[in-house]
Amino acid sequence: MAAMPKPADSKGGGKATVLLGAQWGDEGKGKLADVLSTQMDVCARCAGGNNAGHTIVANVNGVKTKFDFHLLPSGLVNPRCAGFIGSGVVVHVPSFFEELDKLEKKGLNCDGRLFISDRAHLVFDFHQVVDGLKEVELGGSSIGTTKKGIGPAYSSKASRSGLRVHHLYDPELFASKFRKLVEGRFKRYGHFEYDTEGEIARYKAFAERLRPHIVDGVTFIHTALSSNRRVLVEGANALMLDIDFGTYPFVTSSSTSIGGVCTGLGIPPNAIGDVIGVMKAYTTRVGMGPFPTELTDDIGHHLQEVGAEYGVTTGRRRRCGWLDLVMMRYSCLINGYTSLNLTKLDVLDNLKELKVAVGYTVDGKELTSFPADLEVLAKVEVQYKTLPGWEGDISKATTFDELPQTCRDYVDFIESFLSVKIEWIGVGPARESMIHRA
Ligand code: GDP
Ligand code: IMO
Ligand code: MG
Repeated sequence: MAAMPKPADSKGGGKATVLLGAQWGDEGKGKLADVLSTQMDVCARCAGGNNAGHTIVANVNGVKTKFDFHLLPSGLVNPRCAGFIGSGVVVHVPSFFEELDKLEKKGLNCDGRLFISDRAHLVFDFHQVVDGLKEVELGGSSIGTTKKGIGPAYSSKASRSGLRVHHLYDPELFASKFRKLVEGRFKRYGHFEYDTEGEIARYKAFAERLRPHIVDGVTFIHTALSSNRRVLVEGANALMLDIDFGTYPFVTSSSTSIGGVCTGLGIPPNAIGDVIGVMKAYTTRVGMGPFPTELTDDIGHHLQEVGAEYGVTTGRRRRCGWLDLVMMRYSCLINGYTSLNLTKLDVLDNLKELKVAVGYTVDGKELTSFPADLEVLAKVEVQYKTLPGWEGDISKATTFDELPQTCRDYVDFIESFLSVKIEWIGVGPARESMIHRA
Protein backbone atom coordinates (compact mmCIF):
# COMPACT_ATOMS: atom_id res chain seq x y z
CA MET A 1 0.00 0.00 0.00
CA ALA A 2 1.17 3.49 -0.82
CA ALA A 3 1.64 6.06 1.93
CA MET A 4 0.09 9.53 2.01
CA PRO A 5 2.55 12.42 1.79
CA LYS A 6 3.03 14.68 4.78
CA PRO A 7 0.94 17.86 4.74
CA ALA A 8 2.60 21.24 4.44
CA ASP A 9 0.52 22.48 7.35
CA SER A 10 -2.65 21.35 9.06
CA LYS A 11 -5.86 23.34 8.94
CA GLY A 12 -8.48 20.95 7.65
CA GLY A 13 -10.54 20.82 10.83
CA GLY A 14 -11.67 17.29 10.01
CA LYS A 15 -14.11 18.41 7.35
CA ALA A 16 -13.96 18.18 3.58
CA THR A 17 -14.93 21.06 1.29
CA VAL A 18 -17.08 19.80 -1.55
CA LEU A 19 -17.68 21.30 -4.97
CA LEU A 20 -20.47 19.91 -7.12
CA GLY A 21 -21.87 20.54 -10.60
CA ALA A 22 -25.29 22.11 -10.10
CA GLN A 23 -26.76 21.78 -13.62
CA TRP A 24 -26.08 19.32 -16.47
CA GLY A 25 -22.29 19.34 -16.29
CA ASP A 26 -19.43 21.42 -17.68
CA GLU A 27 -20.20 24.29 -15.34
CA GLY A 28 -16.51 24.98 -14.75
CA LYS A 29 -15.85 22.68 -11.79
CA GLY A 30 -12.26 22.05 -12.86
CA LYS A 31 -11.38 25.73 -12.71
CA LEU A 32 -12.73 26.17 -9.18
CA ALA A 33 -11.08 22.90 -8.10
CA ASP A 34 -7.81 24.32 -9.38
CA VAL A 35 -8.32 27.67 -7.64
CA LEU A 36 -9.21 26.01 -4.31
CA SER A 37 -6.49 23.39 -4.56
CA THR A 38 -3.81 25.99 -3.99
CA GLN A 39 -5.06 25.79 -0.36
CA MET A 40 -5.60 22.01 -0.23
CA ASP A 41 -3.60 18.94 0.72
CA VAL A 42 -5.87 16.40 -0.98
CA CYS A 43 -8.24 16.67 -3.95
CA ALA A 44 -10.57 13.67 -4.14
CA ARG A 45 -12.93 12.32 -6.78
CA CYS A 46 -15.86 10.33 -5.41
CA ALA A 47 -18.03 9.37 -8.41
CA GLY A 48 -18.10 8.95 -12.18
CA GLY A 49 -15.08 8.05 -14.26
CA ASN A 50 -13.43 9.41 -17.35
CA ASN A 51 -16.80 10.57 -18.70
CA ALA A 52 -15.91 13.82 -16.92
CA GLY A 53 -13.88 16.49 -18.70
CA HIS A 54 -12.54 19.29 -16.50
CA THR A 55 -10.56 22.08 -18.13
CA ILE A 56 -7.97 24.15 -16.35
CA VAL A 57 -6.06 27.08 -17.74
CA ALA A 58 -3.08 27.83 -15.53
CA ASN A 59 0.39 29.26 -15.62
CA VAL A 60 3.03 26.56 -15.33
CA ASN A 61 6.56 27.94 -15.08
CA GLY A 62 5.34 31.19 -16.61
CA VAL A 63 3.65 29.47 -19.59
CA LYS A 64 -0.14 29.55 -20.06
CA THR A 65 -1.04 25.85 -20.11
CA LYS A 66 -4.37 24.11 -20.70
CA PHE A 67 -5.05 20.85 -18.88
CA ASP A 68 -7.92 18.45 -19.54
CA PHE A 69 -8.70 16.19 -16.60
CA HIS A 70 -11.00 13.22 -17.03
CA LEU A 71 -10.37 10.62 -14.37
CA LEU A 72 -7.64 12.29 -12.34
CA PRO A 73 -8.46 15.00 -9.79
CA SER A 74 -7.86 18.55 -11.07
CA GLY A 75 -6.14 19.51 -7.82
CA LEU A 76 -3.00 17.82 -9.13
CA VAL A 77 -2.11 21.09 -10.88
CA ASN A 78 -1.06 22.30 -7.43
CA PRO A 79 2.25 20.42 -6.92
CA ARG A 80 1.66 20.18 -3.15
CA CYS A 81 -1.78 18.61 -3.48
CA ALA A 82 -2.34 14.86 -3.50
CA GLY A 83 -4.97 13.35 -5.81
CA PHE A 84 -7.30 10.62 -4.57
CA ILE A 85 -9.67 8.48 -6.64
CA GLY A 86 -12.27 7.21 -4.20
CA SER A 87 -14.21 3.95 -3.99
CA GLY A 88 -17.26 5.32 -5.82
CA VAL A 89 -15.28 6.09 -8.99
CA VAL A 90 -15.02 3.63 -11.87
CA VAL A 91 -11.47 3.36 -13.20
CA HIS A 92 -10.41 2.54 -16.76
CA VAL A 93 -6.78 1.69 -16.08
CA PRO A 94 -5.40 2.33 -19.63
CA SER A 95 -7.00 5.80 -19.56
CA PHE A 96 -5.59 6.43 -16.08
CA PHE A 97 -2.04 5.90 -17.36
CA GLU A 98 -2.68 7.81 -20.58
CA GLU A 99 -3.90 10.82 -18.62
CA LEU A 100 -1.05 10.59 -16.15
CA ASP A 101 1.52 10.42 -18.97
CA LYS A 102 -0.01 13.49 -20.64
CA LEU A 103 0.09 15.45 -17.39
CA GLU A 104 3.69 14.56 -16.77
CA LYS A 105 4.59 15.58 -20.33
CA LYS A 106 3.09 18.99 -19.54
CA GLY A 107 5.53 19.31 -16.68
CA LEU A 108 3.44 18.08 -13.72
CA ASN A 109 5.26 15.58 -11.58
CA CYS A 110 2.68 13.35 -9.88
CA ASP A 111 5.14 10.92 -8.29
CA GLY A 112 4.01 9.80 -4.86
CA ARG A 113 0.88 11.96 -4.79
CA LEU A 114 -1.76 10.09 -6.76
CA PHE A 115 -3.81 7.42 -5.00
CA ILE A 116 -6.64 5.04 -5.89
CA SER A 117 -8.96 3.26 -3.51
CA ASP A 118 -8.68 -0.51 -3.61
CA ARG A 119 -12.49 -0.64 -3.55
CA ALA A 120 -12.95 1.32 -6.79
CA HIS A 121 -14.50 -0.69 -9.61
CA LEU A 122 -12.73 -1.24 -12.92
CA VAL A 123 -14.02 -0.24 -16.34
CA PHE A 124 -12.78 -2.51 -19.12
CA ASP A 125 -12.68 -2.02 -22.88
CA PHE A 126 -15.59 -4.46 -23.24
CA HIS A 127 -17.69 -2.12 -21.09
CA GLN A 128 -16.95 0.59 -23.63
CA VAL A 129 -17.93 -1.68 -26.53
CA VAL A 130 -21.16 -2.52 -24.70
CA ASP A 131 -21.81 1.19 -24.06
CA GLY A 132 -21.81 1.72 -27.84
CA LEU A 133 -23.95 -1.36 -28.51
CA LYS A 134 -26.54 -0.29 -25.92
CA GLU A 135 -26.79 3.12 -27.57
CA VAL A 136 -27.34 1.53 -30.98
CA GLU A 137 -29.99 -0.73 -29.46
CA LEU A 138 -31.81 2.32 -28.05
CA GLY A 139 -31.89 3.89 -31.50
CA GLY A 140 -33.91 7.12 -31.50
CA SER A 141 -34.11 7.18 -27.71
CA SER A 142 -30.37 6.81 -27.09
CA ILE A 143 -28.87 8.67 -24.12
CA GLY A 144 -25.96 10.21 -25.99
CA THR A 145 -23.41 8.77 -23.55
CA THR A 146 -19.69 9.50 -23.69
CA LYS A 147 -19.15 5.82 -24.64
CA LYS A 148 -16.53 5.50 -21.93
CA GLY A 149 -18.22 2.38 -20.55
CA ILE A 150 -19.51 4.14 -17.46
CA GLY A 151 -23.09 2.77 -17.48
CA PRO A 152 -22.02 -0.81 -18.20
CA ALA A 153 -19.32 -0.66 -15.49
CA TYR A 154 -21.77 0.59 -12.85
CA SER A 155 -24.20 -2.12 -14.08
CA SER A 156 -21.54 -4.76 -13.38
CA LYS A 157 -21.05 -3.19 -9.94
CA ALA A 158 -24.78 -3.12 -9.12
CA SER A 159 -25.29 -6.67 -10.34
CA ARG A 160 -22.44 -7.77 -8.06
CA SER A 161 -20.32 -9.21 -10.83
CA GLY A 162 -17.89 -6.29 -11.18
CA LEU A 163 -14.16 -6.39 -10.60
CA ARG A 164 -12.52 -3.99 -8.16
CA VAL A 165 -8.99 -2.67 -7.97
CA HIS A 166 -7.98 -5.18 -5.26
CA HIS A 167 -8.97 -8.06 -7.56
CA LEU A 168 -5.98 -7.17 -9.74
CA TYR A 169 -3.77 -8.68 -7.03
CA ASP A 170 -5.46 -12.09 -7.05
CA PRO A 171 -4.64 -13.11 -10.64
CA GLU A 172 -6.55 -16.40 -10.64
CA LEU A 173 -9.73 -14.94 -9.24
CA PHE A 174 -9.36 -11.93 -11.53
CA ALA A 175 -9.04 -14.15 -14.63
CA SER A 176 -12.02 -16.34 -13.78
CA LYS A 177 -14.30 -13.41 -12.89
CA PHE A 178 -13.14 -11.51 -15.98
CA ARG A 179 -13.91 -14.45 -18.31
CA LYS A 180 -17.36 -14.83 -16.76
CA LEU A 181 -18.08 -11.13 -17.18
CA VAL A 182 -17.09 -11.12 -20.85
CA GLU A 183 -19.05 -14.33 -21.52
CA GLY A 184 -22.11 -12.67 -20.00
CA ARG A 185 -21.76 -9.71 -22.37
CA PHE A 186 -21.40 -12.07 -25.36
CA LYS A 187 -24.62 -13.83 -24.31
CA ARG A 188 -26.46 -10.56 -24.03
CA TYR A 189 -25.09 -8.66 -27.06
CA GLY A 190 -23.89 -11.43 -29.36
CA HIS A 191 -20.24 -12.13 -30.01
CA PHE A 192 -18.09 -9.04 -30.62
CA GLU A 193 -14.39 -8.90 -31.33
CA TYR A 194 -12.55 -9.04 -28.02
CA ASP A 195 -9.27 -10.65 -26.96
CA THR A 196 -10.25 -11.91 -23.51
CA GLU A 197 -7.00 -13.74 -22.75
CA GLY A 198 -4.91 -10.87 -24.13
CA GLU A 199 -6.73 -8.48 -21.79
CA ILE A 200 -6.11 -10.71 -18.78
CA ALA A 201 -2.38 -10.67 -19.59
CA ARG A 202 -2.43 -6.90 -20.15
CA TYR A 203 -4.05 -6.33 -16.73
CA LYS A 204 -1.37 -8.46 -15.06
CA ALA A 205 1.17 -5.92 -16.28
CA PHE A 206 -1.07 -2.98 -15.36
CA ALA A 207 -1.41 -4.36 -11.82
CA GLU A 208 2.31 -3.97 -11.20
CA ARG A 209 2.42 -0.46 -12.62
CA LEU A 210 -0.62 0.52 -10.59
CA ARG A 211 0.65 -0.91 -7.29
CA PRO A 212 2.33 2.27 -5.95
CA HIS A 213 -0.95 4.18 -6.34
CA ILE A 214 -3.22 1.78 -4.43
CA VAL A 215 -4.43 2.53 -0.94
CA ASP A 216 -7.11 1.32 1.43
CA GLY A 217 -9.46 4.13 0.44
CA VAL A 218 -11.33 4.33 3.73
CA THR A 219 -8.16 4.53 5.80
CA PHE A 220 -6.66 7.05 3.39
CA ILE A 221 -9.50 9.57 3.54
CA HIS A 222 -10.09 9.18 7.28
CA THR A 223 -6.38 9.61 8.00
CA ALA A 224 -6.40 12.74 5.87
CA LEU A 225 -9.39 14.17 7.74
CA SER A 226 -8.30 13.18 11.23
CA SER A 227 -4.81 14.57 10.71
CA ASN A 228 -6.32 17.93 9.77
CA ARG A 229 -5.32 17.83 6.13
CA ARG A 230 -7.39 20.11 3.94
CA VAL A 231 -9.52 17.92 1.71
CA LEU A 232 -11.38 19.09 -1.38
CA VAL A 233 -13.93 16.79 -3.01
CA GLU A 234 -14.21 17.53 -6.72
CA GLY A 235 -17.61 16.51 -8.02
CA ALA A 236 -17.86 15.07 -11.51
CA ASN A 237 -20.82 15.25 -13.90
CA ALA A 238 -23.65 17.13 -12.14
CA LEU A 239 -26.88 17.06 -10.16
CA MET A 240 -29.18 16.85 -13.20
CA LEU A 241 -27.19 13.82 -14.40
CA ASP A 242 -27.56 12.05 -11.02
CA ILE A 243 -28.90 8.50 -11.29
CA ASP A 244 -31.67 9.23 -8.75
CA PHE A 245 -32.38 12.95 -9.05
CA GLY A 246 -31.46 13.78 -12.63
CA THR A 247 -33.66 13.63 -15.70
CA TYR A 248 -33.75 9.81 -15.69
CA PRO A 249 -33.00 7.93 -17.92
CA PHE A 250 -31.03 10.75 -19.57
CA VAL A 251 -28.47 10.71 -16.79
CA THR A 252 -25.17 9.11 -15.95
CA SER A 253 -24.98 5.98 -13.80
CA SER A 254 -23.64 7.23 -10.47
CA SER A 255 -24.68 9.42 -7.55
CA THR A 256 -23.32 12.77 -8.62
CA SER A 257 -25.14 14.62 -5.84
CA ILE A 258 -24.05 15.22 -2.24
CA GLY A 259 -25.02 11.65 -1.29
CA GLY A 260 -22.34 10.34 -3.64
CA VAL A 261 -19.70 12.16 -1.62
CA CYS A 262 -20.46 10.01 1.44
CA THR A 263 -20.97 6.75 -0.45
CA GLY A 264 -18.09 7.34 -2.84
CA LEU A 265 -15.53 8.16 -0.18
CA GLY A 266 -16.84 6.31 2.86
CA ILE A 267 -17.19 9.41 5.01
CA PRO A 268 -20.13 10.42 7.22
CA PRO A 269 -22.22 13.56 6.59
CA ASN A 270 -20.64 15.29 9.58
CA ALA A 271 -17.26 15.14 7.80
CA ILE A 272 -18.60 17.50 5.15
CA GLY A 273 -17.98 21.22 5.54
CA ASP A 274 -18.73 23.74 2.82
CA VAL A 275 -20.64 22.55 -0.24
CA ILE A 276 -20.05 24.83 -3.21
CA GLY A 277 -22.41 24.52 -6.17
CA VAL A 278 -20.90 25.40 -9.53
CA MET A 279 -23.43 26.87 -11.98
CA LYS A 280 -23.11 28.56 -15.34
CA ALA A 281 -24.74 31.96 -15.84
CA TYR A 282 -26.83 30.17 -18.49
CA THR A 283 -27.53 26.49 -19.11
CA THR A 284 -25.86 23.85 -21.27
CA ARG A 285 -26.34 20.15 -21.79
CA VAL A 286 -24.45 17.52 -23.81
CA GLY A 287 -26.27 14.44 -24.98
CA MET A 288 -29.99 13.79 -25.20
CA GLY A 289 -32.81 14.49 -22.76
CA PRO A 290 -35.15 17.31 -21.80
CA PHE A 291 -33.94 20.90 -21.57
CA PRO A 292 -36.84 23.31 -20.95
CA THR A 293 -34.92 26.56 -21.53
CA GLU A 294 -33.01 25.37 -24.62
CA LEU A 295 -32.47 27.97 -27.34
CA THR A 296 -32.12 26.85 -30.94
CA ASP A 297 -32.10 30.41 -32.29
CA ASP A 298 -29.35 32.98 -32.80
CA ILE A 299 -28.93 33.51 -29.06
CA GLY A 300 -28.37 29.78 -28.53
CA HIS A 301 -25.79 29.89 -31.29
CA HIS A 302 -24.19 32.99 -29.75
CA LEU A 303 -23.83 31.22 -26.37
CA GLN A 304 -22.32 28.18 -28.09
CA GLU A 305 -19.76 30.23 -29.99
CA VAL A 306 -18.85 32.87 -27.41
CA GLY A 307 -18.86 30.28 -24.62
CA ALA A 308 -16.87 27.78 -26.74
CA GLU A 309 -19.46 25.19 -25.80
CA TYR A 310 -17.85 22.05 -27.16
CA GLY A 311 -17.38 18.99 -24.94
CA VAL A 312 -13.93 18.30 -23.49
CA THR A 313 -14.44 14.54 -23.48
CA THR A 314 -16.23 13.92 -26.77
CA GLY A 315 -15.89 17.22 -28.68
CA ARG A 316 -19.68 17.34 -29.11
CA ARG A 317 -21.45 20.68 -29.36
CA ARG A 318 -23.21 21.54 -26.13
CA ARG A 319 -26.86 22.51 -26.34
CA CYS A 320 -27.35 26.00 -24.84
CA GLY A 321 -30.21 27.91 -23.26
CA TRP A 322 -31.24 30.50 -20.68
CA LEU A 323 -30.50 30.08 -17.01
CA ASP A 324 -33.12 27.87 -15.37
CA LEU A 325 -33.72 28.85 -11.76
CA VAL A 326 -36.52 26.32 -11.32
CA MET A 327 -33.98 23.59 -11.94
CA MET A 328 -31.40 25.41 -9.81
CA ARG A 329 -33.83 25.65 -6.89
CA TYR A 330 -34.28 21.86 -7.09
CA SER A 331 -30.49 21.47 -7.25
CA CYS A 332 -30.08 23.65 -4.13
CA LEU A 333 -32.65 21.56 -2.24
CA ILE A 334 -30.85 18.30 -2.88
CA ASN A 335 -27.25 19.40 -2.47
CA GLY A 336 -27.70 22.08 0.21
CA TYR A 337 -25.05 24.41 -1.21
CA THR A 338 -23.49 26.70 1.34
CA SER A 339 -22.37 28.99 -1.50
CA LEU A 340 -22.30 29.13 -5.29
CA ASN A 341 -19.78 29.76 -8.04
CA LEU A 342 -21.50 31.51 -10.94
CA THR A 343 -19.33 30.84 -14.00
CA LYS A 344 -19.02 32.18 -17.53
CA LEU A 345 -20.79 35.43 -16.72
CA ASP A 346 -18.56 37.05 -19.35
CA VAL A 347 -20.26 34.97 -22.06
CA LEU A 348 -23.41 37.08 -21.53
CA ASP A 349 -21.57 40.33 -22.39
CA ASN A 350 -23.35 42.52 -24.94
CA LEU A 351 -26.68 40.71 -24.96
CA LYS A 352 -29.47 43.28 -24.93
CA GLU A 353 -31.64 41.38 -22.53
CA LEU A 354 -31.36 38.20 -20.52
CA LYS A 355 -34.10 35.77 -19.66
CA VAL A 356 -34.18 33.60 -16.59
CA ALA A 357 -36.65 30.77 -15.97
CA VAL A 358 -38.52 31.42 -12.73
CA GLY A 359 -41.49 29.06 -13.04
CA TYR A 360 -42.92 26.10 -14.95
CA THR A 361 -46.63 25.85 -15.73
CA VAL A 362 -48.63 22.97 -17.17
CA ASP A 363 -52.12 23.75 -18.49
CA GLY A 364 -51.88 27.15 -16.87
CA LYS A 365 -51.08 25.76 -13.41
CA GLU A 366 -47.74 26.46 -11.79
CA LEU A 367 -45.76 23.37 -10.80
CA THR A 368 -44.59 23.44 -7.21
CA SER A 369 -41.62 21.14 -7.76
CA PHE A 370 -39.32 19.86 -10.49
CA PRO A 371 -41.25 17.02 -12.18
CA ALA A 372 -39.99 13.42 -12.10
CA ASP A 373 -41.99 12.46 -15.18
CA LEU A 374 -40.27 13.48 -18.41
CA GLU A 375 -43.62 13.61 -20.19
CA VAL A 376 -44.68 16.34 -17.78
CA LEU A 377 -41.34 18.09 -18.20
CA ALA A 378 -41.76 18.02 -21.97
CA LYS A 379 -45.11 19.83 -21.60
CA VAL A 380 -44.05 22.63 -19.27
CA GLU A 381 -44.37 26.19 -20.33
CA VAL A 382 -41.45 28.12 -18.96
CA GLN A 383 -42.18 31.41 -17.19
CA TYR A 384 -39.35 33.86 -17.74
CA LYS A 385 -38.21 36.98 -15.96
CA THR A 386 -36.48 39.37 -18.38
CA LEU A 387 -33.55 41.39 -17.10
CA PRO A 388 -31.49 44.02 -18.91
CA GLY A 389 -28.10 42.98 -20.26
CA TRP A 390 -24.87 45.02 -20.18
CA GLU A 391 -22.48 46.38 -22.74
CA GLY A 392 -18.74 45.87 -22.77
CA ASP A 393 -16.22 43.31 -21.62
CA ILE A 394 -16.33 42.17 -17.98
CA SER A 395 -13.42 39.74 -18.30
CA LYS A 396 -10.92 42.10 -16.67
CA ALA A 397 -13.04 42.73 -13.57
CA THR A 398 -11.40 41.61 -10.35
CA THR A 399 -14.04 42.80 -7.88
CA PHE A 400 -17.83 42.68 -7.84
CA ASP A 401 -17.99 46.47 -7.75
CA GLU A 402 -16.17 46.72 -11.08
CA LEU A 403 -19.02 44.92 -12.85
CA PRO A 404 -21.64 47.06 -14.64
CA GLN A 405 -24.77 47.77 -12.55
CA THR A 406 -27.07 45.57 -14.70
CA CYS A 407 -24.57 42.73 -14.45
CA ARG A 408 -24.54 43.04 -10.65
CA ASP A 409 -28.35 43.11 -10.76
CA TYR A 410 -28.34 39.82 -12.69
CA VAL A 411 -26.12 38.22 -10.03
CA ASP A 412 -28.21 39.68 -7.19
CA PHE A 413 -31.41 38.39 -8.78
CA ILE A 414 -30.05 34.83 -8.91
CA GLU A 415 -28.74 35.08 -5.38
CA SER A 416 -32.00 36.28 -3.92
CA PHE A 417 -34.11 33.80 -5.92
CA LEU A 418 -32.03 30.87 -4.66
CA SER A 419 -31.24 32.33 -1.23
CA VAL A 420 -27.67 31.09 -1.53
CA LYS A 421 -24.64 33.36 -1.53
CA ILE A 422 -22.81 33.67 -4.85
CA GLU A 423 -19.31 33.62 -3.46
CA TRP A 424 -17.33 33.14 -6.68
CA ILE A 425 -17.94 34.67 -10.11
CA GLY A 426 -16.12 33.43 -13.22
CA VAL A 427 -15.38 36.05 -15.86
CA GLY A 428 -12.99 34.07 -18.08
CA PRO A 429 -11.37 30.63 -18.41
CA ALA A 430 -8.08 31.45 -16.66
CA ARG A 431 -7.40 30.85 -12.99
CA GLU A 432 -7.10 34.61 -12.39
CA SER A 433 -10.48 35.36 -14.01
CA MET A 434 -12.41 34.70 -10.84
CA ILE A 435 -14.02 37.25 -8.55
CA HIS A 436 -14.15 36.17 -4.93
CA ARG A 437 -16.71 37.87 -2.70
CA ALA A 438 -15.67 37.30 0.87
P1 GDP B 1 -16.31 21.13 -15.83
O1 GDP B 1 -16.59 19.82 -16.48
O2 GDP B 1 -17.40 21.57 -14.93
O3 GDP B 1 -14.96 21.20 -15.18
O4 GDP B 1 -16.28 22.22 -17.02
P2 GDP B 1 -15.57 22.04 -18.45
O5 GDP B 1 -14.11 22.22 -18.29
O6 GDP B 1 -16.06 20.82 -19.13
O7 GDP B 1 -16.22 23.25 -19.24
C1 GDP B 1 -16.11 24.57 -18.81
C2 GDP B 1 -15.42 25.38 -19.90
O8 GDP B 1 -15.57 26.75 -19.62
C3 GDP B 1 -13.92 25.15 -19.98
O9 GDP B 1 -13.50 25.32 -21.31
C4 GDP B 1 -13.36 26.26 -19.09
O10 GDP B 1 -12.02 26.64 -19.45
C5 GDP B 1 -14.31 27.37 -19.39
N1 GDP B 1 -14.56 28.29 -18.28
C6 GDP B 1 -14.63 28.05 -16.95
N2 GDP B 1 -14.99 29.14 -16.28
C7 GDP B 1 -15.15 30.12 -17.21
C8 GDP B 1 -15.56 31.49 -17.14
O11 GDP B 1 -15.87 32.03 -16.07
N3 GDP B 1 -15.63 32.17 -18.33
C9 GDP B 1 -15.33 31.59 -19.52
N4 GDP B 1 -15.43 32.33 -20.63
N5 GDP B 1 -14.95 30.30 -19.61
C10 GDP B 1 -14.87 29.58 -18.48
P1 IMO C 1 -18.31 16.92 -16.37
O1 IMO C 1 -17.69 16.36 -15.12
C1 IMO C 1 -21.53 16.92 -19.28
C2 IMO C 1 -23.64 13.12 -19.89
C3 IMO C 1 -23.41 12.53 -21.26
C4 IMO C 1 -24.72 11.81 -21.46
C5 IMO C 1 -25.03 11.28 -20.05
C6 IMO C 1 -24.62 9.84 -19.83
O2 IMO C 1 -17.31 17.29 -17.40
O3 IMO C 1 -19.29 18.00 -16.06
P2 IMO C 1 -22.28 8.60 -19.52
O4 IMO C 1 -21.13 8.48 -20.47
O5 IMO C 1 -21.92 9.18 -18.21
O6 IMO C 1 -23.05 7.32 -19.39
O7 IMO C 1 -23.29 9.65 -20.25
O8 IMO C 1 -24.33 12.11 -19.16
N1 IMO C 1 -22.41 13.45 -19.13
C7 IMO C 1 -21.89 14.67 -19.03
N2 IMO C 1 -22.27 15.84 -19.60
N3 IMO C 1 -20.48 16.88 -18.44
C8 IMO C 1 -20.10 15.73 -17.86
O9 IMO C 1 -19.10 15.67 -16.97
C9 IMO C 1 -20.80 14.54 -18.17
N4 IMO C 1 -20.69 13.27 -17.77
C10 IMO C 1 -21.69 12.60 -18.37
O10 IMO C 1 -23.20 13.53 -22.23
O11 IMO C 1 -25.72 12.71 -21.80
MG1 MG D 1 -16.76 18.99 -18.38
